Amino acid sequence: MSKTVSVREIRQQFLDFFASKGHQVVASSSLVPHGDPTLLFTNAGMNQFKDVFLGFDKRPYTRATTSQKCVRAGGKHNDLENVGYTARHHTFFEMLGNFSFGDYFKRDAIKYAWELLTEVYKLPKDKLTVTVYAEDDEAYDIWAKEIGVPTERIIRIGDNKGARYASDNFWMMGDTGPCGPCTEIFYDHGEHIWGGPPGSPDEDGDRFIEIWNNVFMQFNRDEAGVMHPLPKPSVDTGMGLERISAVLQHVHANYEIDLFQTLIKAAARETKTTDLDNPSLKVLADHIRACSFLIADGVIPGNEGRGYVLRRIIRRAIRHGYKLGARAAFFHKVLPDLVAEMGEAYPELSSAQTRVSEVLKQEEDRFFETIENGMAILEAELSEMAKAGNTTFNGETAFKLHDTYGFPLDLTADVCRERDVSVDSAAFDTAMSRQKEQARSAGKFKMATNVEYDGASTNFRGYDELSTEAKVLALYKDGSAVNALNEGDLGIVVLDNTPFYAESGGQIGDCGDLKSNDGIFTVEDTLKIQANVFGHHGVLTTGKLAVGDTLQARVNTNARASTMRNHSATHLMHKALREVLGEHVQQKGSLVDTEKTRFDFVHNAPMTDDEISQVENIVNTEVLANAATQARVMDIESAQKTGAMMLFGEKYGDEVRVLDIGSSRELCGGTHVSRTGDIGLFKITAESGVAAGVRRLEATTGANALKLVQNQQALLSHIASELKSPAHELGTKISQLLDSQKSLEKELARLKSKLASSQGDDLADQALEINGVKVLAAILEGADANALRETMDKLKDKLKSAAIVLASVSDGKVSLAAGVTPDVIIKLKAGDLVNHVASQVGGKGGGKPDMAMAGGTDPSQLPQALASVQAWVQQKLN
Ligand code: ALA
Repeated sequence: MSKTVSVREIRQQFLDFFASKGHQVVASSSLVPHGDPTLLFTNAGMNQFKDVFLGFDKRPYTRATTSQKCVRAGGKHNDLENVGYTARHHTFFEMLGNFSFGDYFKRDAIKYAWELLTEVYKLPKDKLTVTVYAEDDEAYDIWAKEIGVPTERIIRIGDNKGARYASDNFWMMGDTGPCGPCTEIFYDHGEHIWGGPPGSPDEDGDRFIEIWNNVFMQFNRDEAGVMHPLPKPSVDTGMGLERISAVLQHVHANYEIDLFQTLIKAAARETKTTDLDNPSLKVLADHIRACSFLIADGVIPGNEGRGYVLRRIIRRAIRHGYKLGARAAFFHKVLPDLVAEMGEAYPELSSAQTRVSEVLKQEEDRFFETIENGMAILEAELSEMAKAGNTTFNGETAFKLHDTYGFPLDLTADVCRERDVSVDSAAFDTAMSRQKEQARSAGKFKMATNVEYDGASTNFRGYDELSTEAKVLALYKDGSAVNALNEGDLGIVVLDNTPFYAESGGQIGDCGDLKSNDGIFTVEDTLKIQANVFGHHGVLTTGKLAVGDTLQARVNTNARASTMRNHSATHLMHKALREVLGEHVQQKGSLVDTEKTRFDFVHNAPMTDDEISQVENIVNTEVLANAATQARVMDIESAQKTGAMMLFGEKYGDEVRVLDIGSSRELCGGTHVSRTGDIGLFKITAESGVAAGVRRLEATTGANALKLVQNQQALLSHIASELKSPAHELGTKISQLLDSQKSLEKELARLKSKLASSQGDDLADQALEINGVKVLAAILEGADANALRETMDKLKDKLKSAAIVLASVSDGKVSLAAGVTPDVIIKLKAGDLVNHVASQVGGKGGGKPDMAMAGGTDPSQLPQALASVQAWVQQKLN
């Protein structure tokens, strides 16, 4: 066994080995699990094959092998706070795995594992101990009789976690989904390290380390906990690359393997740290991997969901860098070392390098603005506490650090932990909810919508109808329930049935009216009071409306049609953006109203004109294809199987609506056109940036798009007629005009200057004589610096013995020139003279003894300043 085998080689040997056993080498899936909004990040190799195990999806192969990027931070498996302080915790790690989809089962899985470990990796057999699920005699026998592992090193583990199948040797993906018994392989790091074999009281020690888990997928566990046999028994294995590398490189801690050593050195270089054992360097080496890979997979630092987990990891890294002495962005400078180390195995990292670096740097720059103050507050509080012997950090202060200085709670906790202090997180939560409450009650609509209602829910009929007969179930005025509304009353109406769409999913609420026999209520907006209760907000325009009344609820069809066009176009645009810019494009926010669609998405660079045209072309091509929209309601699991686009963090109910518009497929509850052709012309109107790594597009459709084109056409015609040029020649015409304007301006300046210097002649007469020296201080209208100098020379010639100050004002700035004839220089220098004036008009200058120039910023003081010259010169001459 060679000590120099690198992580790269170990990864490759694994994949090569299973390829040689007929396995398809499959690329790692994204860290952002697609189509599974319940999973925060990909956390096991089998994630991408979940549906294959369940029999819902089929692949052209039945054996696969991967090296899978995994992140365990922020979600159920949160290792964040341990990183850097233990030998084996990471936020990001690589899981090597082999998979059988109804192909081989226990026997071959075990044989392959043994062969790889003992013949390829050449681990000594007597260093390996295995565990099997207590009831799994089959696996036990394979290990004992076929592989020949001595029975004292085969350990049966039963349901040791308090419930049926809750066992270290029964692996479940989550509360539901594929699962089965497993066999785990442990490496004995030797007697000199404390710890006992699995199942023993000392099993948590560091001596026996689990290196490989082989799961025999047999069941699909449903919500009730019932185990349904899978269509075909399968295999799912997972070996942490960092752990096996530590074993093969004869080191105990994962951070000692070559890959981490490279990153630790890079982090030391960027923070100018000499002690390579400093735990903060491990944190940086770990975090640069998680952050870079997450950003490469499209996650952007933000305030919620995945983005917030990422932000917390980045800020934790920055804090550790700060601790090492960094005071400005440094973290992104470790990225090139990471790319050199891992870019070959994960090409998506190399290709996103520039974007990742920019996102990291922006986030660093931002946090470095507040970290100094935040740390000062934190340190002050901690030293107060130390004096008082207090070991619980104030939750209010922790909240202030969070709210004002951008310190996530776990960052504060991280600092506190270093001083053996804990944070009062309950008080933090209280402060947080108090603030949310305040924010909520400040929101206008929320306030109005926040009415008490416990009646029947609203039956939404607006997918198919725009006018519906309905009964009034409840009425509100000033936030309280009332029996009737009178003419002029502002209020909210709840109906049993409604065609009005209530604002959600980025689409605005409908407007229209409610017409009963006794009155008309004008609906200005429709908002949800509860998930399935719609409030129609507006005013009773005429008559009376009472609870129990029957009325006709009529949506404003023009407004609705425009909104639908914009909403459907949004789906097509989203799809087109992914085609043109790449799969990292993810929706970050959207607003669809009657005028436009506004769509925010992950992408780092401004879109080029060409990219914008491509998106427009794709969408308009879909429009012309005029495909029929299809909406299907199904359960979330089936929806996932359709491959529909889902948004993480979005709460989907059990029943969801899968919407096909043209070639796009998304989950959406909004209202849409029936054929893509209904959208009419689609035109992008604006592109801008809204936050680091997030772009915004605005677009319009149908009659609005037509109006836009017509307005632009009219504007163009107007310009063409004003400029007396055909529209297609306007470009040349405008360039010509600009050129000619430029030369006219130059000419004008020249003439002004000329005019100014000719004024110089007249000025000579204004000079006053003091002790035989002519003194002159005057304003020369319109003169530039050149003209001032020229006039000065002329005046000196003419006046023979003189001290002169000339000034001009343009664009709110003062220009000054001072000149002194040679005979006067001994008594008075031009530099002093010019500064005497300049200092009074907010400026400063300098030059030679006979000629000096200066500028100033305060023209209002110029007259007094010039008036003071005479007395000042007189004083010098005496
Ligand atoms: N899916 C199994 C695990 O994550 C191999 O341990």
